[in-house]
Amino acid sequence: MHLHLRDDDMLKLVAPKTSNTFAGALIMPNLLPPITTKEALLAYKKRIQEACKNDEFEPHVTIFFQVDYSYEFLKEIKDEIIAVKLYPFGVTTNSETGVSSMDVEVLRPTLESMEKLGIPLCVHGETKGFMMDREKEFLPIYESLAINFPDLKIMMEHISSKESIDLLKKYDNLYATITVHHLMLTLDDVVGGMLNPHAFCKPIVKKPEDRKALLQLALSAHPKVMFGSDSAPHQKNTKECHHGAAGVFTSPIALQVLTQLFEEHGKLDNLNAFISLNAQRIYNLNPIKKEIRLIKKDFIVPEVYSYKSEQVVPLFAGQKLVWSIS
Ligand code: NCD
Ligand code: ZN
Repeated sequence: MHLHLRDDDMLKLVAPKTSNTFAGALIMPNLLPPITTKEALLAYKKRIQEACKNDEFEPHVTIFFQVDYSYEFLKEIKDEIIAVKLYPFGVTTNSETGVSSMDVEVLRPTLESMEKLGIPLCVHGETKGFMMDREKEFLPIYESLAINFPDLKIMMEHISSKESIDLLKKYDNLYATITVHHLMLTLDDVVGGMLNPHAFCKPIVKKPEDRKALLQLALSAHPKVMFGSDSAPHQKNTKECHHGAAGVFTSPIALQVLTQLFEEHGKLDNLNAFISLNAQRIYNLNPIKKEIRLIKKDFIVPEVYSYKSEQVVPLFAGQKLVWSIS
């Protein structure tokens, strides 16, 4: 329930890596320029469908939060979108047109309209503070949103710290997504040995105790938690460089890694709820029925995925996973 598909050749390269194994996904709107109009939204959805044409797959598209969205606009677009995604200004990839103030009164007109119309809000919850504390510093903002808009469903995207879990449990209208990389990695995997730019993302993966707490939450398939890969592909040369881009590409490995993780902890029974059933309930979805088969067979993760001039390196490139998709 959190996926970046990009556009053009990159879209053509990465979209099938999700659509071959998933029945649907929530697609993020942070293109350049971001998706803010009905025309751009419908055209993007069409390009996604075209890129996934060999698979049964529902792209649940979103628009990029703007403080000046009118009630009429949101009403008109309501049936086309699954949610609106809010990015604070400058906190992550392509968020330069994000909101410059997280003051509730500034956001109120749009959020009240969304609340009335029943449109969920997805949030990238980070401040511009010290990197390891950015999510923690954002928690009072989540809390104020939850209190001020009690009928608004608020999705705390890609939670990465243990403190977020307490807040999630405290308010009925807060929900969360968790990525594969936040369940698997800590900061040591990014900068503790040799630098690994392919594990660099926002929010940054954190301490072992954060990973552990997130893992417990996911393994229990807590009803307010959904799998959101935040698979965020970037060109190989924009990761392996000076000023490397933030984003981890996990689409082709997500299911296998999650299966391995849930199996290792004896929690395979909860895998379907974490990946799919919780999201269906939270977002009121009725997806097409799609069956895939996972088999206990080694899968060596490719070093790179390519299409024309696009090249993307997945997380765990060259490493062995013990589950494969048949
Ligand atoms: C995402 C991207 O590349 O679009 N990057 C990331 O590090 N997660 C944006 C985002 O979800 O923050
Ligand atoms: Zn994202």
